[in-house]
Amino acid sequence: MTSSRDYESKPLPFNKDLIGISNNTIEIHHDKLYQGYVNKMNEIGSKLAKFSHGETDVSGNQTHSELRGLRNGETFANNGVYLHEYYFNVLGRNNEDVPENDLIKAIIEKFDSIDNFIAYFSASGMAMRGWVVLAWDIQLGKLKVYGCDSHNQGGVWGCVPIIVLDVYEHAYYLDYGADRKKYITDFWKNLNWEAANHIYKKINSVTLNG
Ligand SMILES: [Fe+2]
Repeated sequence: MTSSRDYESKPLPFNKDLIGISNNTIEIHHDKLYQGYVNKMNEIGSKLAKFSHGETDVSGNQTHSELRGLRNGETFANNGVYLHEYYFNVLGRNNEDVPENDLIKAIIEKFDSIDNFIAYFSASGMAMRGWVVLAWDIQLGKLKVYGCDSHNQGGVWGCVPIIVLDVYEHAYYLDYGADRKKYITDFWKNLNWEAANHIYKKINSVTLNG
């Protein structure tokens, strides 16, 4: 059952074949896995609403309590939803040429060249077990690359993701087997730089540090 407070899953922002990543992988990834996180996000949200509206005893316990389970489940589910949306958002361009835009200029300014950035980000994708994120860090007022092994571990608060890469095996194993490096190489060919630039331009004037 859904309620008016339920979060609605977003459709894929592209409808064409990707390079290397099969439609089967994308379908399973979006329709089953991502949708599963949305469902859990809504289920947990409705249970937490009973606590936040005083319908349930709000006492908690750090060893085991319903509230603790919901608190931890919420960050895992919600980050699972948001990170996948950022990831799908930057797929679908299918072009190896890097366009000129504000984000590209900012990346070159910070990392000296796009090639340096791609090498650094890609290596981070080999080093992590979950996600790599190019984010706008509003504490620092600059671009930063962060990585994490799990949806709710390693993320840095005060950051807005711009380019997100999913390096969980479910994102590539059907198509690439254990060759994650090839999957990451193809990620750049599929990257929608305009979609990434759209987020960058919305957020890059925000800083708490000045
Ligand atoms: Fe995923």
